[in-house]
Amino acid sequence: MAEVTVTEHILLHQKRSPQATGQFTGLLYDLILSGKTISRRINKAGLLDILGGTGEVNVQGENVQKLDEIANRIMIYRMERCGALCAMASEEEADFIPVSPEFPQGDYILIFDPLDGSSNIDVNVNVGTIFSILRRQHGKTGAVTLDELLQPGTQQVAAGYMLYGPSTMLVFTTGQGVHGFTLDPGVGEFLLSHPNMTIPQQGKIYSVNEGYHQYWDEPTRACIDYFKSSENRLGKPYSARYVGSLVADFHRTLIYGGIYMYPADTRKPQGKLRLLCEAAPLGMLAEQAGGRASTGLGRVLEVKPEKLHARVPLFIGSANDVADVEALYAKHK
Ligand code: AHG
Ligand code: MN
Ligand code: MN
Repeated sequence: MAEVTVTEHILLHQKRSPQATGQFTGLLYDLILSGKTISRRINKAGLLDILGGTGEVNVQGENVQKLDEIANRIMIYRMERCGALCAMASEEEADFIPVSPEFPQGDYILIFDPLDGSSNIDVNVNVGTIFSILRRQHGKTGAVTLDELLQPGTQQVAAGYMLYGPSTMLVFTTGQGVHGFTLDPGVGEFLLSHPNMTIPQQGKIYSVNEGYHQYWDEPTRACIDYFKSSENRLGKPYSARYVGSLVADFHRTLIYGGIYMYPADTRKPQGKLRLLCEAAPLGMLAEQAGGRASTGLGRVLEVKPEKLHARVPLFIGSANDVADVEALYAKHK
């Protein structure tokens, strides 16, 4: 059988890409290695207490650590040494992390959510690592400054996620479509399982934390009501799905279509999701797959972050569904 490994796929794609440098390819390899390492730790999550009795985790001192901290450390340790980066930023760190001068420096900036959906860990539900790769602006040298990280999503050179579910998957784009790979745990390699992923233009699933209904404004309520009514483009109510791990909700949306929503509300006036490490990378994937990502008022990828942990409302998925939300917001303005 003609199995395509992620390594082979990257080499083939990079050849055709003007971005092609050994640096970028090396960055992807080390990102994949970080993902595989996190995946292994997550697979053992339920065993931590049991393994603790053997001394294994006690020696590491990691039995007391939360998995999102462990994932964060794995990412920082590995990626700082990859030679392709000048800076990183993590959802778990207040400030960005310049790559220490003791390591080789590169031209790229990596922004990540080390473990998205981590509140689902204890109940064995899918979690994931989301990443966004930016290039340092041409001509910049020396110490990296914060404004270099505050680029709109349109500037991303690559984006993707590792999903730790029944299988571990890697889904990413370098601006030439979206491709999905599934980890074969026996050989420890990601194999191409979902080439050229596309989001159906019209969805039939809506995904939102409806428990917050009373905190929403009228236009937001109108949007959710629209998907639940028969007076929509589909002509019947959508099905509801909400995992509570953005990366898992997005993965389903990418494959089945539909719309994932995390609107602003009275308690979270900018929404909850972070622009740089969540909304922008998933926005690039959505657009590359023929879907859309919007704040309700405009394209997520065009939002210029004001700070490292800026948040945005997010409506992402099938092009028709996202367009309908934008039309409803426009009508209520
Ligand atoms: P994280 O675990 O990285 O902090 O992200 C949690 C996010 C996201 O994964 C999920 O979609 C959302 O929080 C769920 O929030 P609610 O519980 O408010 O619905
Ligand atoms: Mn998250
Ligand atoms: Mn997280």
